[in-house]
Amino acid sequence: MGATRRLIRVADRGVRMAAPSDDVAPGSDVKLRALDEAPVGVTITDPDRPDNPLVYVNDAFEEITGYDRDEVVGRNCRFLQGPDTDADAVAELREGIDARESVVVELLNYRKDGEAFWNEVKVAPLWNDGEVTNYVGFQTDVTARVRAEREVREDRASLEHLVDRLDGLLGDVTEVVVNANGRDEVAVGVCERLAAADTYSFAWLGDVDRAASEVRPRAWHGRDGVDADALAVPTERTDHPIVRAIRTGEFQHVTAAEAAGVVPFGGVSGVAAIPLTYRSTTYGVLVVYTPDPAALNDVEATVLESLGRTVATALSANESRRLIAADQIVTLALETEDRSLFFVDLSARLDGELDYRGAVSRASTPTLFFAADAPTKDVLAAAEAVPGVDGVDVVGDGNGALFEFRVSEESLVGPLADRGGRVREISARNGRARIEVDLPAGADTRGIVEGIQERYPDAEVVRYRERERPPTGEDEFAAAVEDRLTERQSTALQKAYFAGYYDANRRVTGADLAESMGISRATFHQHLRAAERKVFAALLDE
Ligand SMILES: Cc1cc2nc3c(=O)[nH]c(=O)nc-3n(C[C@H](O)[C@H](O)[C@H](O)COP(=O)(O)O)c2cc1C
Repeated sequence: MGATRRLIRVADRGVRMAAPSDDVAPGSDVKLRALDEAPVGVTITDPDRPDNPLVYVNDAFEEITGYDRDEVVGRNCRFLQGPDTDADAVAELREGIDARESVVVELLNYRKDGEAFWNEVKVAPLWNDGEVTNYVGFQTDVTARVRAEREVREDRASLEHLVDRLDGLLGDVTEVVVNANGRDEVAVGVCERLAAADTYSFAWLGDVDRAASEVRPRAWHGRDGVDADALAVPTERTDHPIVRAIRTGEFQHVTAAEAAGVVPFGGVSGVAAIPLTYRSTTYGVLVVYTPDPAALNDVEATVLESLGRTVATALSANESRRLIAADQIVTLALETEDRSLFFVDLSARLDGELDYRGAVSRASTPTLFFAADAPTKDVLAAAEAVPGVDGVDVVGDGNGALFEFRVSEESLVGPLADRGGRVREISARNGRARIEVDLPAGADTRGIVEGIQERYPDAEVVRYRERERPPTGEDEFAAAVEDRLTERQSTALQKAYFAGYYDANRRVTGADLAESMGISRATFHQHLRAAERKVFAALLDE
Protein backbone atom coordinates (compact mmCIF):
# COMPACT_ATOMS: atom_id res chain seq x y z
CA MET A 1 0.00 0.00 0.00
CA GLY A 2 2.19 2.84 -1.34
CA ALA A 3 0.10 5.70 -0.02
CA THR A 4 0.28 4.35 3.50
CA ARG A 5 4.04 3.96 3.45
CA ARG A 6 4.50 7.51 2.27
CA LEU A 7 2.30 8.81 5.03
CA ILE A 8 4.13 6.77 7.60
CA ARG A 9 7.25 8.63 6.66
CA VAL A 10 5.41 11.91 6.96
CA ALA A 11 4.31 10.96 10.44
CA ASP A 12 7.79 9.67 11.36
CA ARG A 13 9.33 12.98 10.60
CA GLY A 14 6.28 14.84 11.71
CA VAL A 15 7.20 13.76 15.25
CA ARG A 16 4.99 12.11 17.75
CA MET A 17 1.67 13.70 17.30
CA ALA A 18 0.72 13.62 20.92
CA ALA A 19 -0.71 17.09 20.61
CA PRO A 20 -2.91 18.44 17.83
CA SER A 21 -1.29 19.69 14.70
CA ASP A 22 0.08 23.07 15.90
CA ASP A 23 3.46 21.85 17.18
CA VAL A 24 4.59 20.06 14.02
CA ALA A 25 8.28 20.41 13.25
CA PRO A 26 9.28 23.23 10.86
CA GLY A 27 9.42 22.14 7.23
CA SER A 28 6.49 19.83 7.58
CA ASP A 29 3.93 22.54 6.79
CA VAL A 30 3.35 21.35 3.27
CA LYS A 31 3.02 17.76 4.36
CA LEU A 32 0.65 18.67 7.11
CA ARG A 33 -1.48 20.70 4.71
CA ALA A 34 -1.51 17.73 2.42
CA LEU A 35 -2.86 15.65 5.31
CA ASP A 36 -5.42 18.30 6.27
CA GLU A 37 -6.68 18.64 2.74
CA ALA A 38 -6.42 15.02 1.62
CA PRO A 39 -9.58 13.87 -0.15
CA VAL A 40 -10.05 10.94 2.26
CA GLY A 41 -10.49 10.98 6.01
CA VAL A 42 -7.15 10.78 7.83
CA THR A 43 -6.92 10.02 11.56
CA ILE A 44 -3.97 9.45 13.86
CA THR A 45 -4.15 7.86 17.31
CA ASP A 46 -1.74 7.60 20.20
CA PRO A 47 -1.55 4.06 21.61
CA ASP A 48 0.55 5.22 24.55
CA ARG A 49 -2.46 7.00 25.99
CA PRO A 50 -5.33 5.17 27.66
CA ASP A 51 -7.77 3.65 25.12
CA ASN A 52 -5.72 4.68 22.06
CA PRO A 53 -7.46 8.05 21.47
CA LEU A 54 -7.48 10.20 18.35
CA VAL A 55 -4.82 12.90 18.33
CA TYR A 56 -5.43 14.19 14.85
CA VAL A 57 -8.27 14.19 12.30
CA ASN A 58 -8.32 16.01 8.96
CA ASP A 59 -10.99 18.08 7.20
CA ALA A 60 -12.35 15.18 5.17
CA PHE A 61 -12.94 13.22 8.40
CA GLU A 62 -14.97 16.13 9.74
CA GLU A 63 -16.97 16.21 6.52
CA ILE A 64 -17.63 12.49 6.40
CA THR A 65 -18.66 12.16 10.05
CA GLY A 66 -20.17 15.60 10.74
CA TYR A 67 -18.08 15.96 13.93
CA ASP A 68 -15.74 18.87 14.62
CA ARG A 69 -12.11 18.15 15.41
CA ASP A 70 -12.51 19.45 18.99
CA GLU A 71 -15.33 17.05 19.68
CA VAL A 72 -13.36 13.94 18.76
CA VAL A 73 -9.70 14.44 19.57
CA GLY A 74 -9.02 12.63 22.83
CA ARG A 75 -11.70 9.92 22.16
CA ASN A 76 -11.37 6.41 20.79
CA CYS A 77 -12.78 6.25 17.28
CA ARG A 78 -15.35 3.62 18.21
CA PHE A 79 -17.84 6.43 18.96
CA LEU A 80 -18.68 6.21 15.24
CA GLN A 81 -20.15 2.75 15.74
CA GLY A 82 -23.78 2.11 16.54
CA PRO A 83 -26.60 -0.41 16.80
CA ASP A 84 -26.23 -1.96 13.32
CA THR A 85 -22.44 -2.02 13.18
CA ASP A 86 -21.24 -5.54 12.50
CA ALA A 87 -19.43 -6.94 15.58
CA ASP A 88 -17.21 -9.15 13.41
CA ALA A 89 -15.91 -6.12 11.51
CA VAL A 90 -15.10 -4.38 14.81
CA ALA A 91 -13.33 -7.52 16.07
CA GLU A 92 -11.25 -7.59 12.89
CA LEU A 93 -10.14 -4.01 13.52
CA ARG A 94 -9.36 -4.80 17.16
CA GLU A 95 -7.34 -7.89 16.31
CA GLY A 96 -5.38 -6.07 13.59
CA ILE A 97 -4.58 -3.17 15.90
CA ASP A 98 -3.63 -5.47 18.79
CA ALA A 99 -1.33 -7.47 16.48
CA ARG A 100 0.18 -4.21 15.14
CA GLU A 101 -0.75 -5.05 11.60
CA SER A 102 -2.45 -3.15 8.83
CA VAL A 103 -6.13 -3.90 8.54
CA VAL A 104 -8.93 -2.85 6.20
CA VAL A 105 -12.61 -3.28 6.99
CA GLU A 106 -15.90 -1.96 5.67
CA LEU A 107 -18.37 -1.28 8.44
CA LEU A 108 -21.47 0.70 9.22
CA ASN A 109 -20.75 3.94 11.10
CA TYR A 110 -23.00 6.78 12.21
CA ARG A 111 -22.64 10.47 11.55
CA LYS A 112 -23.16 13.01 14.29
CA ASP A 113 -26.72 13.60 13.02
CA GLY A 114 -27.40 9.88 13.43
CA GLU A 115 -27.38 9.01 9.71
CA ALA A 116 -25.67 5.71 8.97
CA PHE A 117 -22.95 5.44 6.33
CA TRP A 118 -20.65 2.70 5.08
CA ASN A 119 -17.09 3.45 6.10
CA GLU A 120 -14.10 1.76 4.54
CA VAL A 121 -11.48 2.04 7.31
CA LYS A 122 -7.80 1.27 6.75
CA VAL A 123 -5.64 1.29 9.86
CA ALA A 124 -1.85 0.90 9.88
CA PRO A 125 0.76 1.10 12.66
CA LEU A 126 3.52 3.73 12.44
CA TRP A 127 6.87 2.30 13.54
CA ASN A 128 9.83 4.15 15.01
CA ASP A 129 12.89 2.26 16.25
CA GLY A 130 10.99 -1.00 16.48
CA GLU A 131 8.17 0.63 18.45
CA VAL A 132 4.66 1.48 17.29
CA THR A 133 4.40 5.15 18.02
CA ASN A 134 1.04 5.85 16.38
CA TYR A 135 -1.71 4.38 14.27
CA VAL A 136 -2.91 6.11 11.17
CA GLY A 137 -6.38 5.52 9.80
CA PHE A 138 -8.00 6.38 6.46
CA GLN A 139 -11.76 6.71 6.18
CA THR A 140 -13.66 6.60 2.90
CA ASP A 141 -17.44 6.92 2.62
CA VAL A 142 -18.37 4.00 0.37
CA THR A 143 -22.12 4.14 0.96
CA ALA A 144 -22.96 4.66 -2.71
CA ARG A 145 -20.87 1.69 -3.79
CA VAL A 146 -22.18 -0.62 -1.06
CA ARG A 147 -25.78 0.31 -1.93
CA ALA A 148 -25.13 -0.24 -5.64
CA GLU A 149 -23.54 -3.62 -4.92
CA ARG A 150 -26.44 -4.57 -2.73
CA GLU A 151 -28.91 -3.58 -5.44
CA VAL A 152 -27.03 -5.66 -7.98
CA ARG A 153 -27.13 -8.61 -5.57
CA GLU A 154 -30.83 -8.12 -4.96
CA ASP A 155 -31.53 -7.72 -8.68
CA ARG A 156 -29.60 -10.89 -9.35
CA ALA A 157 -31.47 -12.75 -6.64
CA SER A 158 -34.82 -11.58 -7.95
CA LEU A 159 -33.75 -12.42 -11.50
CA GLU A 160 -32.81 -15.91 -10.36
CA HIS A 161 -36.15 -16.15 -8.64
CA LEU A 162 -37.83 -14.95 -11.83
CA VAL A 163 -36.02 -17.53 -13.91
CA ASP A 164 -37.01 -20.24 -11.44
CA ARG A 165 -40.64 -19.18 -11.54
CA LEU A 166 -40.57 -18.91 -15.32
CA ASP A 167 -39.02 -22.32 -15.54
CA GLY A 168 -41.44 -23.83 -13.09
CA LEU A 169 -44.88 -22.33 -13.33
CA LEU A 170 -44.61 -21.12 -16.89
CA GLY A 171 -43.12 -24.41 -18.01
CA ASP A 172 -45.98 -26.35 -16.43
CA VAL A 173 -48.65 -24.10 -17.86
CA THR A 174 -47.06 -24.26 -21.31
CA GLU A 175 -47.16 -28.05 -21.10
CA VAL A 176 -50.81 -27.93 -20.10
CA VAL A 177 -51.84 -25.67 -22.96
CA VAL A 178 -49.80 -27.48 -25.57
CA ASN A 179 -51.38 -30.81 -24.68
CA ALA A 180 -54.90 -29.52 -24.14
CA ASN A 181 -57.54 -30.38 -26.64
CA GLY A 182 -59.74 -27.38 -27.13
CA ARG A 183 -60.57 -24.22 -25.31
CA ASP A 184 -62.21 -25.73 -22.26
CA GLU A 185 -59.35 -28.11 -21.62
CA VAL A 186 -56.94 -25.20 -21.76
CA ALA A 187 -59.04 -23.31 -19.22
CA VAL A 188 -59.40 -26.24 -16.81
CA GLY A 189 -55.72 -27.24 -17.07
CA VAL A 190 -54.43 -23.73 -16.45
CA CYS A 191 -56.65 -23.20 -13.40
CA GLU A 192 -55.69 -26.55 -11.90
CA ARG A 193 -52.02 -25.87 -12.39
CA LEU A 194 -52.17 -22.37 -10.91
CA ALA A 195 -54.26 -23.31 -7.90
CA ALA A 196 -51.73 -26.06 -7.16
CA ALA A 197 -48.85 -23.55 -7.04
CA ASP A 198 -47.71 -22.54 -3.53
CA THR A 199 -48.38 -18.89 -4.15
CA TYR A 200 -52.02 -19.20 -5.19
CA SER A 201 -55.06 -20.59 -3.48
CA PHE A 202 -57.61 -20.17 -6.25
CA ALA A 203 -57.67 -19.49 -9.98
CA TRP A 204 -60.36 -18.94 -12.55
CA LEU A 205 -60.41 -18.25 -16.26
CA GLY A 206 -63.28 -16.39 -17.85
CA ASP A 207 -64.38 -14.52 -20.91
CA VAL A 208 -67.10 -12.13 -21.93
CA ASP A 209 -70.53 -13.66 -22.27
CA ARG A 210 -72.17 -11.12 -24.55
CA ALA A 211 -75.68 -12.42 -24.09
CA ALA A 212 -75.44 -12.03 -20.31
CA SER A 213 -73.22 -8.92 -20.49
CA GLU A 214 -70.81 -10.31 -17.95
CA VAL A 215 -67.35 -11.74 -17.59
CA ARG A 216 -68.18 -15.36 -16.88
CA PRO A 217 -65.86 -18.13 -15.70
CA ARG A 218 -65.21 -21.08 -17.98
CA ALA A 219 -63.21 -22.95 -15.38
CA TRP A 220 -62.11 -22.51 -11.77
CA HIS A 221 -60.12 -24.48 -9.25
CA GLY A 222 -58.93 -24.39 -5.66
CA ARG A 223 -62.07 -24.34 -3.54
CA ASP A 224 -65.24 -26.35 -3.18
CA GLY A 225 -68.67 -24.82 -3.21
CA VAL A 226 -67.86 -21.93 -5.53
CA ASP A 227 -70.15 -21.48 -8.51
CA ALA A 228 -69.91 -19.47 -11.70
CA ASP A 229 -72.53 -16.97 -10.60
CA ALA A 230 -70.48 -16.02 -7.55
CA LEU A 231 -67.47 -15.22 -9.72
CA ALA A 232 -69.16 -13.57 -12.72
CA VAL A 233 -68.80 -9.79 -13.04
CA PRO A 234 -71.18 -7.56 -15.05
CA THR A 235 -69.28 -5.89 -17.90
CA GLU A 236 -70.90 -2.56 -17.07
CA ARG A 237 -68.80 -2.42 -13.89
CA THR A 238 -65.98 -0.72 -15.79
CA ASP A 239 -64.11 0.16 -12.59
CA HIS A 240 -63.88 -3.52 -11.61
CA PRO A 241 -60.30 -4.76 -12.06
CA ILE A 242 -61.42 -7.90 -13.90
CA VAL A 243 -63.47 -5.90 -16.40
CA ARG A 244 -60.63 -3.38 -16.63
CA ALA A 245 -58.11 -6.15 -17.44
CA ILE A 246 -60.26 -7.26 -20.39
CA ARG A 247 -61.04 -3.76 -21.61
CA THR A 248 -57.53 -2.35 -21.40
CA GLY A 249 -55.52 -5.51 -22.03
CA GLU A 250 -53.40 -4.55 -19.01
CA PHE A 251 -52.43 -6.53 -15.94
CA GLN A 252 -54.43 -5.53 -12.84
CA HIS A 253 -53.21 -5.98 -9.30
CA VAL A 254 -55.80 -5.84 -6.53
CA THR A 255 -54.41 -5.24 -3.04
CA ALA A 256 -55.67 -6.83 0.16
CA ALA A 257 -57.79 -3.79 0.96
CA GLU A 258 -59.54 -3.83 -2.42
CA ALA A 259 -59.77 -7.63 -2.58
CA ALA A 260 -62.78 -7.74 -0.26
CA GLY A 261 -64.93 -6.07 -2.91
CA VAL A 262 -63.72 -8.41 -5.64
CA VAL A 263 -63.53 -11.85 -4.04
CA PRO A 264 -66.62 -13.80 -2.96
CA PHE A 265 -64.87 -15.50 0.00
CA GLY A 266 -62.33 -14.67 2.71
CA GLY A 267 -58.65 -15.46 3.26
CA VAL A 268 -57.48 -13.61 0.15
CA SER A 269 -54.83 -10.91 0.43
CA GLY A 270 -54.20 -10.15 -3.21
CA VAL A 271 -55.74 -10.74 -6.61
CA ALA A 272 -54.19 -10.51 -10.05
CA ALA A 273 -56.35 -10.16 -13.16
CA ILE A 274 -54.30 -11.11 -16.19
CA PRO A 275 -55.66 -10.30 -19.65
CA LEU A 276 -55.33 -13.13 -22.15
CA THR A 277 -54.18 -11.10 -25.10
CA TYR A 278 -52.59 -12.34 -28.28
CA ARG A 279 -51.76 -9.65 -30.82
CA SER A 280 -54.84 -7.45 -31.05
CA THR A 281 -57.32 -9.89 -29.56
CA THR A 282 -58.23 -10.43 -25.91
CA TYR A 283 -59.54 -13.93 -25.34
CA GLY A 284 -60.54 -13.44 -21.75
CA VAL A 285 -59.03 -13.05 -18.34
CA LEU A 286 -57.19 -15.24 -15.90
CA VAL A 287 -57.74 -14.40 -12.24
CA VAL A 288 -55.59 -15.69 -9.39
CA TYR A 289 -56.04 -15.22 -5.64
CA THR A 290 -53.20 -15.34 -3.14
CA PRO A 291 -53.29 -15.47 0.66
CA ASP A 292 -49.87 -13.77 0.77
CA PRO A 293 -50.06 -9.96 0.63
CA ALA A 294 -46.43 -9.71 -0.56
CA ALA A 295 -46.74 -12.31 -3.33
CA LEU A 296 -47.80 -10.08 -6.18
CA ASN A 297 -44.58 -8.12 -6.61
CA ASP A 298 -43.10 -6.92 -9.91
CA VAL A 299 -41.36 -10.21 -10.56
CA GLU A 300 -44.55 -12.18 -10.07
CA ALA A 301 -46.42 -9.74 -12.30
CA THR A 302 -43.88 -10.40 -15.05
CA VAL A 303 -44.34 -14.15 -14.68
CA LEU A 304 -48.12 -13.85 -14.73
CA GLU A 305 -48.11 -11.56 -17.74
CA SER A 306 -46.02 -13.99 -19.78
CA LEU A 307 -48.26 -16.75 -18.59
CA GLY A 308 -51.26 -14.78 -19.88
CA ARG A 309 -49.61 -14.39 -23.27
CA THR A 310 -48.84 -18.11 -23.40
CA VAL A 311 -52.43 -19.05 -22.64
CA ALA A 312 -53.75 -16.49 -25.17
CA THR A 313 -51.41 -17.81 -27.86
CA ALA A 314 -52.73 -21.30 -27.19
CA LEU A 315 -56.33 -20.11 -27.37
CA SER A 316 -55.61 -18.33 -30.64
CA ALA A 317 -53.86 -21.35 -32.12
CA ASN A 318 -56.80 -23.39 -30.99
CA GLU A 319 -59.20 -21.21 -32.97
CA SER A 320 -56.99 -21.38 -36.07
CA ARG A 321 -56.78 -25.14 -35.75
CA ARG A 322 -60.52 -25.23 -35.47
CA LEU A 323 -60.87 -23.44 -38.78
CA ILE A 324 -58.49 -25.85 -40.40
CA ALA A 325 -60.28 -28.86 -38.97
CA ALA A 326 -63.82 -27.56 -39.25
CA ASP A 327 -66.24 -29.29 -41.57
CA GLN A 328 -68.78 -26.57 -41.02
CA ILE A 329 -67.73 -23.06 -41.75
CA VAL A 330 -69.46 -19.74 -41.67
CA THR A 331 -68.92 -17.27 -44.46
CA LEU A 332 -69.64 -13.66 -43.69
CA ALA A 333 -69.78 -10.90 -46.24
CA LEU A 334 -69.36 -7.35 -44.97
CA GLU A 335 -69.51 -4.04 -46.73
CA THR A 336 -67.90 -0.85 -45.55
CA GLU A 337 -66.94 2.60 -46.75
CA ASP A 338 -64.57 3.24 -43.89
CA ARG A 339 -61.60 5.00 -45.40
CA SER A 340 -59.28 4.05 -42.56
CA LEU A 341 -59.08 0.77 -44.48
CA PHE A 342 -56.42 1.68 -46.99
CA PHE A 343 -57.98 -0.25 -49.86
CA VAL A 344 -61.28 1.60 -49.40
CA ASP A 345 -59.48 4.93 -49.48
CA LEU A 346 -57.38 3.92 -52.46
CA SER A 347 -60.36 2.70 -54.47
CA ALA A 348 -62.09 6.04 -53.90
CA ARG A 349 -59.17 7.72 -55.64
CA LEU A 350 -59.12 5.35 -58.61
CA ASP A 351 -61.23 4.56 -61.56
CA GLY A 352 -61.07 0.81 -61.33
CA GLU A 353 -61.35 -2.11 -58.97
CA LEU A 354 -58.93 -3.52 -56.42
CA ASP A 355 -58.97 -7.25 -55.81
CA TYR A 356 -57.34 -8.92 -52.82
CA ARG A 357 -54.91 -11.68 -53.73
CA GLY A 358 -53.30 -12.59 -50.43
CA ALA A 359 -51.19 -11.44 -47.54
CA VAL A 360 -47.82 -12.33 -46.18
CA SER A 361 -48.50 -13.61 -42.75
CA ARG A 362 -46.03 -13.25 -39.88
CA ALA A 363 -44.41 -10.37 -41.74
CA SER A 364 -42.74 -7.70 -39.66
CA THR A 365 -44.49 -5.17 -41.89
CA PRO A 366 -48.00 -6.29 -42.79
CA THR A 367 -48.07 -6.82 -46.54
CA LEU A 368 -51.15 -7.27 -48.70
CA PHE A 369 -51.36 -8.10 -52.37
CA PHE A 370 -54.00 -6.61 -54.63
CA ALA A 371 -54.59 -6.74 -58.35
CA ALA A 372 -55.89 -3.52 -59.87
CA ASP A 373 -57.65 -2.99 -63.15
CA ALA A 374 -56.36 0.54 -63.43
CA PRO A 375 -53.21 1.93 -65.02
CA THR A 376 -50.17 1.23 -62.86
CA LYS A 377 -49.10 4.85 -62.68
CA ASP A 378 -52.56 5.90 -61.47
CA VAL A 379 -52.49 3.32 -58.70
CA LEU A 380 -49.01 4.37 -57.60
CA ALA A 381 -49.91 8.06 -57.67
CA ALA A 382 -53.13 7.51 -55.74
CA ALA A 383 -51.40 5.30 -53.15
CA GLU A 384 -49.00 8.12 -52.34
CA ALA A 385 -51.92 10.07 -50.87
CA VAL A 386 -53.33 7.21 -48.80
CA PRO A 387 -52.43 7.40 -45.12
CA GLY A 388 -51.15 4.15 -43.65
CA VAL A 389 -49.57 2.91 -46.89
CA ASP A 390 -45.84 2.91 -46.20
CA GLY A 391 -44.71 1.49 -49.49
CA VAL A 392 -45.96 -0.03 -52.72
CA ASP A 393 -44.18 -2.33 -55.09
CA VAL A 394 -45.58 -3.32 -58.39
CA VAL A 395 -45.02 -6.44 -60.37
CA GLY A 396 -46.00 -6.48 -64.03
CA ASP A 397 -47.35 -3.71 -66.11
CA GLY A 398 -50.56 -2.35 -67.54
CA ASN A 399 -54.01 -3.34 -66.36
CA GLY A 400 -54.08 -6.36 -64.08
CA ALA A 401 -50.69 -5.69 -62.51
CA LEU A 402 -50.07 -6.97 -58.99
CA PHE A 403 -49.43 -4.47 -56.22
CA GLU A 404 -47.77 -5.20 -52.95
CA PHE A 405 -48.86 -2.76 -50.25
CA ARG A 406 -46.80 -2.45 -47.10
CA VAL A 407 -49.05 -0.93 -44.50
CA SER A 408 -48.46 0.44 -41.03
CA GLU A 409 -51.45 -1.23 -39.45
CA GLU A 410 -52.83 -4.68 -40.04
CA SER A 411 -55.98 -4.01 -41.97
CA LEU A 412 -58.49 -6.61 -40.92
CA VAL A 413 -56.63 -9.58 -42.35
CA GLY A 414 -54.16 -10.05 -39.48
CA PRO A 415 -56.61 -9.48 -36.62
CA LEU A 416 -59.10 -11.85 -38.25
CA ALA A 417 -56.44 -14.49 -38.70
CA ASP A 418 -55.67 -14.20 -34.99
CA ARG A 419 -59.25 -15.18 -34.28
CA GLY A 420 -59.22 -18.12 -36.64
CA GLY A 421 -60.83 -16.21 -39.50
CA ARG A 422 -59.58 -16.15 -43.06
CA VAL A 423 -60.22 -13.41 -45.54
CA ARG A 424 -61.43 -15.05 -48.76
CA GLU A 425 -62.06 -12.02 -50.81
CA ILE A 426 -61.85 -8.24 -50.76
CA SER A 427 -62.99 -6.16 -53.67
CA ALA A 428 -63.03 -2.40 -53.49
CA ARG A 429 -64.41 0.08 -55.98
CA ASN A 430 -65.39 3.72 -55.70
CA GLY A 431 -64.70 3.88 -51.98
CA ARG A 432 -66.76 0.85 -51.03
CA ALA A 433 -65.36 -2.56 -50.15
CA ARG A 434 -66.92 -5.97 -49.90
CA ILE A 435 -65.08 -8.37 -47.65
CA GLU A 436 -65.75 -12.08 -47.38
CA VAL A 437 -64.46 -13.96 -44.38
CA ASP A 438 -64.50 -17.64 -43.44
CA LEU A 439 -64.93 -18.47 -39.78
CA PRO A 440 -64.95 -21.84 -38.09
CA ALA A 441 -68.46 -22.85 -37.04
CA GLY A 442 -68.68 -22.36 -33.30
CA ALA A 443 -66.28 -19.44 -33.32
CA ASP A 444 -67.52 -16.39 -31.49
CA THR A 445 -69.04 -14.95 -34.69
CA ARG A 446 -70.98 -12.32 -32.89
CA GLY A 447 -67.95 -11.18 -30.94
CA ILE A 448 -65.90 -11.04 -34.11
CA VAL A 449 -68.51 -8.96 -35.94
CA GLU A 450 -68.82 -6.65 -32.95
CA GLY A 451 -65.05 -6.28 -32.88
CA ILE A 452 -65.04 -5.31 -36.56
CA GLN A 453 -67.91 -2.87 -36.09
CA GLU A 454 -66.19 -1.27 -33.14
CA ARG A 455 -63.27 -0.48 -35.43
CA TYR A 456 -65.28 0.26 -38.57
CA PRO A 457 -68.68 1.47 -37.35
CA ASP A 458 -70.41 1.55 -40.75
CA ALA A 459 -69.49 -2.07 -41.57
CA GLU A 460 -72.62 -4.12 -42.17
CA VAL A 461 -73.07 -7.80 -42.64
CA VAL A 462 -74.63 -8.30 -46.05
CA ARG A 463 -74.54 -12.06 -46.06
CA TYR A 464 -74.19 -14.84 -43.52
CA ARG A 465 -73.93 -18.38 -44.71
CA GLU A 466 -73.13 -21.64 -42.99
CA ARG A 467 -71.78 -24.28 -45.23
CA GLU A 468 -70.30 -27.75 -45.26
CA ARG A 469 -66.75 -27.93 -46.31
CA PRO A 470 -65.60 -31.10 -47.95
CA PRO A 471 -62.78 -32.52 -45.81
CA THR A 472 -60.07 -32.16 -48.42
CA GLY A 473 -57.21 -31.61 -46.05
CA GLU A 474 -56.07 -28.83 -48.35
CA ASP A 475 -56.03 -26.28 -45.59
CA GLU A 476 -53.99 -28.51 -43.32
CA PHE A 477 -51.55 -28.88 -46.15
CA ALA A 478 -51.44 -25.13 -46.78
CA ALA A 479 -50.98 -24.41 -43.09
CA ALA A 480 -48.20 -26.98 -42.83
CA VAL A 481 -46.34 -25.49 -45.78
CA GLU A 482 -46.89 -21.94 -44.56
CA ASP A 483 -45.35 -22.89 -41.24
CA ARG A 484 -42.13 -23.96 -42.89
CA LEU A 485 -41.60 -20.99 -45.15
CA THR A 486 -39.59 -18.02 -44.01
CA GLU A 487 -41.10 -14.59 -44.51
CA ARG A 488 -38.90 -13.91 -47.55
CA GLN A 489 -39.65 -17.30 -49.08
CA SER A 490 -43.36 -16.78 -48.56
CA THR A 491 -43.20 -13.32 -50.14
CA ALA A 492 -41.22 -14.57 -53.12
CA LEU A 493 -43.58 -17.47 -53.73
CA GLN A 494 -46.80 -15.49 -53.34
CA LYS A 495 -45.52 -12.67 -55.48
CA ALA A 496 -44.41 -15.01 -58.20
CA TYR A 497 -47.69 -16.89 -58.18
CA PHE A 498 -50.04 -13.92 -57.99
CA ALA A 499 -48.06 -11.98 -60.58
CA GLY A 500 -48.48 -14.78 -63.06
CA TYR A 501 -44.91 -16.04 -63.05
CA TYR A 502 -46.18 -19.59 -63.38
CA ASP A 503 -48.73 -18.80 -66.10
CA ALA A 504 -48.34 -20.43 -69.51
CA ASN A 505 -47.32 -17.20 -71.14
CA ARG A 506 -45.71 -15.50 -68.22
CA ARG A 507 -46.03 -11.77 -67.99
CA VAL A 508 -43.26 -11.18 -65.48
CA THR A 509 -39.68 -12.28 -65.23
CA GLY A 510 -37.63 -13.28 -62.22
CA ALA A 511 -35.77 -10.00 -62.65
CA ASP A 512 -39.04 -8.03 -62.29
CA LEU A 513 -39.92 -9.90 -59.13
CA ALA A 514 -36.43 -9.53 -57.68
CA GLU A 515 -36.52 -5.81 -58.36
CA SER A 516 -39.90 -5.46 -56.68
CA MET A 517 -38.47 -7.08 -53.55
CA GLY A 518 -35.36 -4.91 -53.69
CA ILE A 519 -33.04 -7.92 -53.90
CA SER A 520 -30.76 -9.36 -56.56
CA ARG A 521 -32.04 -11.87 -59.09
CA ALA A 522 -29.82 -14.56 -57.62
CA THR A 523 -31.18 -13.98 -54.12
CA PHE A 524 -34.74 -13.93 -55.38
CA HIS A 525 -34.28 -17.27 -57.13
CA GLN A 526 -32.70 -18.68 -54.00
CA HIS A 527 -35.77 -17.72 -51.94
CA LEU A 528 -38.15 -18.95 -54.62
CA ARG A 529 -36.40 -22.28 -55.09
CA ALA A 530 -36.23 -22.84 -51.33
CA ALA A 531 -39.97 -22.15 -51.13
CA GLU A 532 -40.71 -24.45 -54.09
CA ARG A 533 -38.59 -27.20 -52.58
CA LYS A 534 -40.51 -26.99 -49.29
CA VAL A 535 -43.87 -27.12 -51.08
CA PHE A 536 -42.85 -30.12 -53.14
CA ALA A 537 -41.36 -31.85 -50.12
CA ALA A 538 -44.62 -31.38 -48.20
CA LEU A 539 -46.58 -32.71 -51.18
CA LEU A 540 -44.41 -35.62 -52.25
CA ASP A 541 -42.59 -36.77 -49.13
CA GLU A 542 -45.53 -36.90 -46.74
C1 LIG B 1 -6.25 5.11 13.56
C2 LIG B 1 -7.58 4.45 13.81
C3 LIG B 1 -8.70 4.85 13.13
C4 LIG B 1 -9.93 4.23 13.35
N1 LIG B 1 -11.03 4.64 12.66
C5 LIG B 1 -12.21 4.06 12.88
C6 LIG B 1 -13.37 4.47 12.18
O1 LIG B 1 -13.36 5.37 11.35
N2 LIG B 1 -14.54 3.84 12.44
C7 LIG B 1 -14.63 2.82 13.35
O2 LIG B 1 -15.71 2.28 13.52
N3 LIG B 1 -13.54 2.39 14.03
C8 LIG B 1 -12.35 2.99 13.82
N4 LIG B 1 -11.26 2.57 14.49
C9 LIG B 1 -11.35 1.39 15.38
C10 LIG B 1 -11.75 1.70 16.79
O3 LIG B 1 -11.07 2.78 17.27
C11 LIG B 1 -11.46 0.46 17.66
O4 LIG B 1 -10.11 0.12 17.49
C12 LIG B 1 -12.33 -0.71 17.29
O5 LIG B 1 -13.65 -0.39 17.65
C13 LIG B 1 -11.92 -2.00 17.98
O6 LIG B 1 -11.75 -1.83 19.33
P1 LIG B 1 -12.89 -2.06 20.46
O7 LIG B 1 -13.39 -3.46 20.27
O8 LIG B 1 -12.17 -1.81 21.70
O9 LIG B 1 -13.96 -1.07 20.17
C14 LIG B 1 -10.01 3.19 14.30
C15 LIG B 1 -8.89 2.78 14.99
C16 LIG B 1 -7.67 3.41 14.76
C17 LIG B 1 -6.48 2.95 15.52
